[in-house]
Amino acid sequence: MTAEDLVEELDARNQAALERLAPDATLAPEVSGSLTVPNLLKVALKNEIEATEIAARWLVTTDDVDVKMAFARQAGDEAKHYRMIAERLRALGFDAKSFDPLAKGYGPLFQYLDTLTSTVERVAAGQFTREAIAVVKNRQFIEFCDHAGDRETAAMYRDVIEPDERYHHELGRTLLLRLATTPDAQAAASRAARQTLELADELQKKALATAGIHHAPGC
Ligand SMILES: [Fe+2]
Ligand SMILES: [Fe+2]
Repeated sequence: MTAEDLVEELDARNQAALERLAPDATLAPEVSGSLTVPNLLKVALKNEIEATEIAARWLVTTDDVDVKMAFARQAGDEAKHYRMIAERLRALGFDAKSFDPLAKGYGPLFQYLDTLTSTVERVAAGQFTREAIAVVKNRQFIEFCDHAGDRETAAMYRDVIEPDERYHHELGRTLLLRLATTPDAQAAASRAARQTLELADELQKKALATAGIHHAPGC
């Protein structure tokens, strides 16, 4: 198999899984109880801080300059998203300074990503797959914001955050095409990507069951 074949296979797998992450309900979101833009932005803060930190951890543990710079770019973008979201929360009347998104610890996806040691697994899981999920979830969230009448939050996601997450996914694609050239590397990349999709699916089901959340933005 060539690296191109693998990326094509992972793309197809992402697409199939992401269709399940996009339930019909998201087309006509029902805001009830605590399912509000500010509460979803608090979930986003946690995602952004975790995405910042995993990229930063990976940046210092690779010698490959292109990979280093890809993770550096991502860490910077995710930190920028964190700040923008915190500022938006402040404008909505919530003091993000007194809120620690990591108070309850790191989430299962972060913990899984942190176990990955090879670059090909990291870019397959953390960039190519995670960021493909983010793009879909952010589109759902933009729709949710539009329905809730919050045009500013929708614009922030549409104009800045979602294009950045798409760029992170493309960074993952570029690196995968260069790195996934041996059967071993391809198997490792495929495994890590699959595990990431499964975790995302599990987390989604849990969020839906416990808090009715199916529009939380991703990173
Ligand atoms: Fe991202
Ligand atoms: Fe982000």
